[in-house]
Amino acid sequence: MTSALADPRLSGRTVRRIAFDEETIAARVAELGAEITAAYPDGDLLVLGLLKGSFIFLSDLVRQITRPLQVDFLVAVSYGDAMVSSGTVRLLYDPETRLEGKQILLVEDIVDSGRTLNKLMSLLEERSPRSLEICALLHKRIADELHYEARFVGFDAPHEFLVGYGLDHAENFRHLPYIASLQ
Ligand code: PRP
Repeated sequence: MTSALADPRLSGRTVRRIAFDEETIAARVAELGAEITAAYPDGDLLVLGLLKGSFIFLSDLVRQITRPLQVDFLVAVSYGDAMVSSGTVRLLYDPETRLEGKQILLVEDIVDSGRTLNKLMSLLEERSPRSLEICALLHKRIADELHYEARFVGFDAPHEFLVGYGLDHAENFRHLPYIASLQ
């Protein structure tokens, strides 16, 4: 396991604990890749990564899916108080790939309040995909208002502020290879 206290990537911040280390993440991502491969025996599969948080998870995940697929991205922004999601989501980047008739797998780093997914899923549903599923690396299991449950989940997340492996604090720490909670 990486020693968080000695990690120069933290620029002086203190990590409370490493919630998921590199080996644990890699093993679970390999399992998810196998689950996803088995779940889509035929048809077009489009893996849609929600940026920015999913960029590392998505790159590792697609290399563990051993069937044909395409990759595209979504960039969404939420408005309102930075600490409490406002529920208003707008797309800054819309996938160029046609979604109609395709099996879509939306990849998220973490499901927190579930508001991002509620908005995005209804928006994607309007484009008549053959199927639409969610793969989330982390799920806080606090999203009472989530209308769309994730079919594939990496880990139940502790109720702490998590950074690393794509997750940020004020845009920092996304590049940590492990997931940690900040002090
Ligand atoms: C974070 C995270 C999820 C979303 C989860 O994204 O990456 O997309 O919030 O929160 P919710 O379930 O309460 O909607 P953020 O808006 O911070 O953007 P980022 O992916 O660029 O970090």
